Amino acid sequence: LFPWAQVRLPTAIMPLRYELNLHPNLTSMTFRGSVTISLQALQPTWNIILHSTHHNISRVTFMSAVTSQEKQVEVLEYPFHEQIAIVAPETLLEGHNYTLKIEYSANISSSYYGFYGISYTDGSKEKKYFAATQFEPLAARSAFPCFDEPAFKATFIIRIIREEQYTALSNMPKKSSVAVEDGLVQDEFSESMKMSTYLVAFIVGEMKNLSQDVNGTLVSIYAVPEKIGQVHHALETTVKLLEFYENYFEIQYPLKKLDLVAIPDFEAGAMENWGLLTFREETLLYDNDTSSVVDRKLVTKIIAHELAHQWFGNLVTMQWWNDLWLNEGFATFMEYFSLEKIFEELYSYEDFLDARFKTMKKDSLNSSHPISLSSVQSSEQIEEMFDSLSYFKGASLLLMLKTYLGEDVFQRAVVLYLRNHSYGSIQSDDLWDSFNEVTNKTIDVKKMMKTWTLQKGVPLVTVQRKGKELLVQQERFFLNMKPGIQPSGVSYLWHIPLTFVTEGRNYSKYQSVSLLETKSDVINLTEEVQWIKVNTNMTGYYIVHYADDDWKALIKQLKVNPYVLSDKDRANLINNIFELAGLGRVPLRRAFDLIDYLRNETCTAPISEALFQTGLIYNLLEKLGYTDLASRLVTRIFKLLQSQIQQQTWTDDGTPSMRELRSVLLEFACTHNLENCNAAAMKLFDNWMASNGTLSLPTDVMATVFKVGAKTERGWSFLLSKYMSLGSEAEKNKILEALASSEDVWKLYWLMKTSLSGDNIRTQKLSFIIRTVGRRFPGHLLAWDFVKENWNKLVQKFHLGSYTMHSIVAGSTHLFSTKAHLSEVQAFFENQSEATSRLRYVQEALEIIQLNIQWMEKNLKTLTW
Ligand code: BES
Ligand code: ZN
Repeated sequence: LFPWAQVRLPTAIMPLRYELNLHPNLTSMTFRGSVTISLQALQPTWNIILHSTHHNISRVTFMSAVTSQEKQVEVLEYPFHEQIAIVAPETLLEGHNYTLKIEYSANISSSYYGFYGISYTDGSKEKKYFAATQFEPLAARSAFPCFDEPAFKATFIIRIIREEQYTALSNMPKKSSVAVEDGLVQDEFSESMKMSTYLVAFIVGEMKNLSQDVNGTLVSIYAVPEKIGQVHHALETTVKLLEFYENYFEIQYPLKKLDLVAIPDFEAGAMENWGLLTFREETLLYDNDTSSVVDRKLVTKIIAHELAHQWFGNLVTMQWWNDLWLNEGFATFMEYFSLEKIFEELYSYEDFLDARFKTMKKDSLNSSHPISLSSVQSSEQIEEMFDSLSYFKGASLLLMLKTYLGEDVFQRAVVLYLRNHSYGSIQSDDLWDSFNEVTNKTIDVKKMMKTWTLQKGVPLVTVQRKGKELLVQQERFFLNMKPGIQPSGVSYLWHIPLTFVTEGRNYSKYQSVSLLETKSDVINLTEEVQWIKVNTNMTGYYIVHYADDDWKALIKQLKVNPYVLSDKDRANLINNIFELAGLGRVPLRRAFDLIDYLRNETCTAPISEALFQTGLIYNLLEKLGYTDLASRLVTRIFKLLQSQIQQQTWTDDGTPSMRELRSVLLEFACTHNLENCNAAAMKLFDNWMASNGTLSLPTDVMATVFKVGAKTERGWSFLLSKYMSLGSEAEKNKILEALASSEDVWKLYWLMKTSLSGDNIRTQKLSFIIRTVGRRFPGHLLAWDFVKENWNKLVQKFHLGSYTMHSIVAGSTHLFSTKAHLSEVQAFFENQSEATSRLRYVQEALEIIQLNIQWMEKNLKTLTW
């Protein structure tokens, strides 16, 4: 009988140090391992319970430090909880140390999780093998028996036996390399810092690297040999970011080396393993001729994110997964913060703003959750924490707090928090305590922030001007208004830092801050003003609704002179009015009235947001077959953006922000066949094809050019052949997007099937393909069909609770808007396992379909004006 019934491990025993020996065979996809764990008993006990799954354990020995006698012991397994139990030959005594040695063998995983293996063909078409790890959140236990919970920090010594031609990497610098039997080599790595198991990593493969020293830390970027020419940008970026973070946190990066590795097949975007960051090739490599400004931003952002984790996550770690936002929210916040400080020209604030819009929408659903959850137990629940709320709501709340407290106070609190908890584990309260220590409780940060982390949802602040008074009120902004869905008796209340900007007779511009802690309040303005914009630069995590006259005043001001408001404020108004219109709180007509000012808009953020919001409407109309209405909508938007579109050239000229605007505008124009966009793109494509793909195309519009080219049979086939042979992931991604935007159902189906099999198109691209296919008519019907048909295979490859599955389900269902589709999707999930129908992303998918139906019921009439 297994002596432990809980999912969480007992706390009677603490691991201190692991010595892990591994001998992988990359061709047979198996490995042998042995792990020696030094333990300390914190309470007297007989049992040692730890994690282990899918291991063939051949021998377990136990040794007490006192007697130094080695004894072979029995092991019990409980696969359901992925645990094993070792019954010690003697009572373990409090405060005493013991050693446990486990010898085992296992398969190298063929999914993307655990110690996994892949094969790829190199530049000269030779088959190559590569092995890497992805342990977060729960897969260290599949690579070696261990106490696989983040709070059990210990040190690690790792040894790996490999064939000569391979490089082996791990968290720490290599200490020695010795020849062992059969021409093999054993590498030993230095003992690590005290760290969580999910951060352990090792890699075996053929790689090259480029390195540079930063204050005694050797920074290296690794890639497969033929891609070593694409690592320069990453190296430069990492060096700058490492210096920035060391300064900002006032804590040195503690290791002597920092490796960033581009893995040929990888499920997530990147992973922050201490000292050994792993990436997809497309998120680390940068190719001068084919990477666009968006690609450059992506690489820069992801490096900034994973590097921030070396402090937030690795040095200071959440005690348990319920507080994952402390890792991911902070890393995401630091990602934008560091980019704004050292790569200001990238205008990454535009991306952050856009992410806040998307997150608020998701948080307005009933299926949302507080970012700090009280109970997270099952592996699906843990994996589901890796959603955009942990990342972006977390980051948005930190932005709001930083704006409220000021940069200086914020930094001091962050530094204090990292210092106090280095090599330790924390909960949300520990963070707020550090803030309160710095504010001396003049501002009770804990009290304020708990209203944001422990409640789900977004506040809706309604404001109304009465002379010099501003009446403000808060409630939850709730997208799903169906009676019975709104939980009754729950009264949401937040402590909201209210900010506003206005222009008065005596002021050129006027800004103010106050904290709204009650349901409603009155703010006194010093004078009567023409207009008022609340939530300045949208640094606050809330939506604002104005009284009729106040909306009118804002719309008027936008038409007279939009530039008294920042681009962030203008984008914010567009976002809020469309979200409110979806709910029926504002007539849709007025939302269109507001964006009329876009004729005079030149900035990227407001134009992108308007295109996004109206694009949602277009997508629904198109899928429901209202082609007339859809094209009228396009004509209307085109009139607003026409002069901007006409000014665009097919080049990579301009600032990053202008370049991004260009790709958005030309993509819009070509998709809807406007101006001479398609002709211009086709000409570029023809020249490119005539040069056999050697001619260099402007990178920012490359995807648009390929999409136009892919419309012909010949173009599609040529693109496919290039996809198979090219060496730049940046270029391949643009080709793949074009291939998957085809309207030919047969081609789309072939792409999805091929990517699932992993030959020719890597399986890591499948969720991207499904999302792209699912966006347009008729692909959206096919994408969902494909997901249903291959559900079990998908789950096997990507894991039920993973973000990839979330994105596949969302991407293949989010444009359904009929009752028939709703019941069909619902029925499909109800027929799967219980765990499946309980998934949050399944609930979310159903809710989004319901909302689409509701949106149409409410607004279709207005669109026929
Ligand atoms: N820790 C995550 C990687 C991860 C994701 C592990 C999901 C387990 C489950 C890493 O720091 C991360 O957040 N990666 C992001 C990229 C980031 C820039 C948003 C990713 O993979 O998408
Ligand atoms: Zn992260």
